[in-house]
Amino acid sequence: MKGRVRLEWIYLLVLALFLWVGNGYGAESAKLTNADCIKCHKKEVSQINAHGGKHKLVGCLGCHKGHYPMIPFSKMIPKCSECHHGKPHFKLSHCERCHSNPHEPLVMNLAKGYFKKECMTCHKKEGEELAKYPTKHSKLACNTCHVQHGYIPPCLRCHKPHLAGQTNKDCKLCHAAHRPVPVTYGMNIPNAYCTACHSKIGKMLASTHTKHRKLKCVFCHRGRHKIIPSCEACHGEPHPMVMVKGKKCLDCHMDAHALIK
Ligand code: HEC
Ligand code: HEC
Ligand code: HEC
Ligand code: HEC
Ligand code: HEC
Ligand code: HEC
Ligand code: HEC
Ligand code: HEC
Ligand code: HEC
Ligand code: HEC
Ligand code: HEC
Ligand code: HEC
Repeated sequence: MKGRVRLEWIYLLVLALFLWVGNGYGAESAKLTNADCIKCHKKEVSQINAHGGKHKLVGCLGCHKGHYPMIPFSKMIPKCSECHHGKPHFKLSHCERCHSNPHEPLVMNLAKGYFKKECMTCHKKEGEELAKYPTKHSKLACNTCHVQHGYIPPCLRCHKPHLAGQTNKDCKLCHAAHRPVPVTYGMNIPNAYCTACHSKIGKMLASTHTKHRKLKCVFCHRGRHKIIPSCEACHGEPHPMVMVKGKKCLDCHMDAHALIK
């Protein structure tokens, strides 16, 4: 305690002397200016110059409204809420979890912590999609994937492809990042992407000599994984009733993928 008191007196003396010297040996309006701070706080000044962003324009004294011993230490540090209020984002607690240094407000390390509702103060849509389609991705923190603000992770950072040679772009043909299942796709999926998991059916289809052989999986299984089409959806009623006699199509044609004609 005694040490602290003595130290404070030293600051007082140094500052008083500094002001006295700096203002022409006791001119009337002895007052600290932004230009003075660098003489004792090089680090903060160089941080603000390099990465201060819009805080650079605020000026040291815009935030630190005076100096010990003219004002108490407790009044030297501003609260973020003095200047930032009115948006949901500004209602978060502990701003310093992300903005760890007010002199470099946009230099953030998101690698630690579990952030979701925090991100949703600006990116509501993504969070809502993850919640609407509960998958294993919904349990992850946003920053498990977005380890830096704005960084987009490749799927292959965490997953193996179903088929050698598949790229990140391919994953997005069937999965969306914030809604990885249910799987949906367009008409541009090569059969090999399906037969990576359905190899038996792939072989069956390749071995039939009928015209089904030339069709893509997704031509019949359209749009969404696990959709099963009916034969009639494409063929209507191809045979006269008397011929069919209540039999099902596959009673005679055997298998959609190993069609017999
Ligand atoms: C003559 C040197 C000197 C000058 C010039 C100076 N300071 Fe300081 N400042 C100090 C010392 C010494 C401390 C105490 C350091 C400590 O506690 O480690 C301090 C502490 C601070 C603190 C920390 C307060 C706290 O609660 O710990 C802030 C903020 C600060 N100064 C801002 C400024 C700003 C802004 C300026 C320019 C307007 C400025 N200083 C100019 C010497 C100076
Ligand atoms: C936008 C507001 C803002 C501006 C502008 C600002 N500061 Fe700060 N400064 C803060 C806050 C908030 C803290 C407390 C940080 C903390 O507790 O980690 C702080 C802390 C400090 C400290 C104490 C550092 C420490 O490690 O204890 C010093 C010294 C300081 N500022 C100097 C300056 C100087 C010099 C400038 C101008 C170049 C400046 N500040 C501009 C908000 C600001
Ligand atoms: C004395 C007023 C003041 C204080 C205190 C203050 N800021 Fe700011 N801050 C501003 C102004 C002014 C801007 C620029 C306009 C805006 O974006 O609102 C700004 C901008 C920012 C930005 C965006 C920077 C950029 O370059 O786009 C961040 C992030 C930020 N502040 C975080 C904080 C945090 C965190 C704190 C508390 C540690 C804080 N501010 C305290 C005035 C302040
Ligand atoms: C989960 C991390 C996180 C927390 C906690 C956080 N922020 Fe932010 N903040 C961000 C990110 C990310 C941005 C966007 C930066 C960009 O656009 O590059 C941002 C942007 C800002 C901006 C500039 C954009 C704007 O809308 O004006 C300000 C100001 C700001 N934050 C202030 C604050 C304040 C004040 C707090 C505490 C009440 C806070 N932040 C808490 C991550 C956070
Ligand atoms: C204060 C508002 C704010 C906060 C909080 C915020 N962001 Fe952002 N974010 C932005 C802005 C603004 C952009 C730039 C948008 C653009 O370029 O279209 C952005 C961009 C992004 C991008 C890149 C978008 C693209 O199209 O490349 C990702 C990813 C992202 N943010 C994720 C996050 C995550 C994760 C969090 C939480 C840790 C977060 N953001 C918190 C405002 C914010
Ligand atoms: C499993 C990893 C993962 C998680 C968890 C995740 N994202 Fe993403 N995010 C991505 C990927 C990958 C992309 C790129 C999507 C694309 O290119 O189609 C992306 C894109 C974005 C974008 C850019 C715009 C867009 O929608 O394409 C924003 C903003 C974003 N994410 C915010 C968030 C937020 C907020 C959260 C948490 C609520 C979150 N992300 C959770 C992986 C993830
Ligand atoms: C940061 C790592 C990470 C990234 C990046 C990532 N994921 Fe995941 N993903 C996971 C984890 C962890 C799981 C859960 C795994 C488990 O429990 O077996 C998962 C699960 C999945 C699942 C199964 C979901 C379920 O509920 O059954 C799919 C599908 C998936 N990811 C696709 C993707 C795609 C596509 C991308 C790129 C857009 C991607 N992932 C990016 C980490 C990641
Ligand atoms: C042709 C569509 C398609 C493509 C392209 C695709 N997937 Fe899948 N993926 C699926 C289907 C279908 C499932 C199984 C879903 C189920 O079980 O309901 C799946 C499941 C997954 C799973 C869950 C675990 C597993 O293996 O069952 C992960 C992780 C995954 N995919 C990641 C990826 C990644 C990474 C890529 C890009 C390299 C990718 N997928 C490309 C259709 C695809
Ligand atoms: C990652 C592996 C994977 C990929 C890739 C994949 N599937 Fe599947 N598929 C599965 C699994 C697992 C099942 C469920 C099997 C079961 O229930 O017996 C399934 C089931 C199916 C079913 C049957 C659903 C039912 O009700 O019996 C169809 C149809 C199907 N897949 C078509 C496709 C098509 C078309 C593609 C390519 C666009 C594809 N699959 C890609 C893993 C995959
Ligand atoms: C998504 C549409 C679609 C579905 C579903 C479908 N088919 Fe076909 N099928 C076709 C097309 C296209 C042809 C080729 C017609 C042509 O070239 O004239 C075809 C041809 C055939 C042929 C004649 C083959 C040949 O080589 O001449 C038979 C038999 C047939 N389909 C039976 C079936 C049966 C049985 C089912 C149900 C298990 C079925 N199809 C489901 C689209 C479909
Ligand atoms: C001509 C249309 C057509 C094509 C092309 C087609 N399917 Fe099918 N598929 C069907 C029909 C119809 C059924 C339902 C058969 C039944 O009712 O027994 C089916 C059933 C399935 C099933 C579930 C039942 C089972 O046999 O395990 C899977 C998985 C499947 N198809 C995958 C594929 C894959 C993978 C491809 C591409 C290699 C493919 N299909 C190509 C029409 C087609
Ligand atoms: C009683 C057995 C039987 C049943 C049941 C049956 N088919 Fe056929 N189908 C045949 C035979 C045999 C041929 C070959 C006729 C030919 O080549 O002229 C054929 C031919 C076809 C063709 C090819 C016609 C052409 O012009 O080349 C289509 C398509 C077809 N069937 C679809 C279906 C569908 C869809 C069903 C169910 C609604 C069905 N079949 C039920 C026996 C059957």
